[in-house]
Amino acid sequence: MMKEFSFQYTMLNSYTELAEQDRVLVERAFVACSKAYAPYSKFHVGASVLLANGEMIEGNNQENIAYPSGLCAERVALFWVGANFPDVDVLTLAIVAKGDLLPIDHVLSPCGGCRQVMLETELRQNKAYRVIIVSQDMRTMIFNSAKDLLPFSFGSM
Ligand code: THU
Repeated sequence: MMKEFSFQYTMLNSYTELAEQDRVLVERAFVACSKAYAPYSKFHVGASVLLANGEMIEGNNQENIAYPSGLCAERVALFWVGANFPDVDVLTLAIVAKGDLLPIDHVLSPCGGCRQVMLETELRQNKAYRVIIVSQDMRTMIFNSAKDLLPFSFGSM
């Protein structure tokens, strides 16, 4: 039996086309990106989270000379939220990046490990949140749910 799976997302030419609050969130992710600790990959990633209480929380990738000890920006931000605001819903997660590791016109996309954590944040709060991803050429994707980025995930079918 052939089955089909699909979802919809929005693609903009630039994050500047976003509504004011989303634009501010992305700009905060850019600031976080500029403060990333990425001396090994030289690929800087910034993530920012809008919470239901109006707070915005940032994270960036933190590398380590023992490579696997480092952590991605999305997880730094979401784990900080989990640690400090365990009962406040995430409304939006914005992700940006800068570096030569990927070509400028490459569509940015979070790693599998981050997707699993992004999904669990959604399952934990029992409410979908939006994910805004800004590629290096400024193309901007808006997803309605973290689940859209990780179909057929472990533990949540
Ligand atoms: N990185 C992130 O911060 N987020 C991702 O979704 C993928 C990759 C970081 C990890 C590492 O510090 C650098 O980017 C290069 O992989």
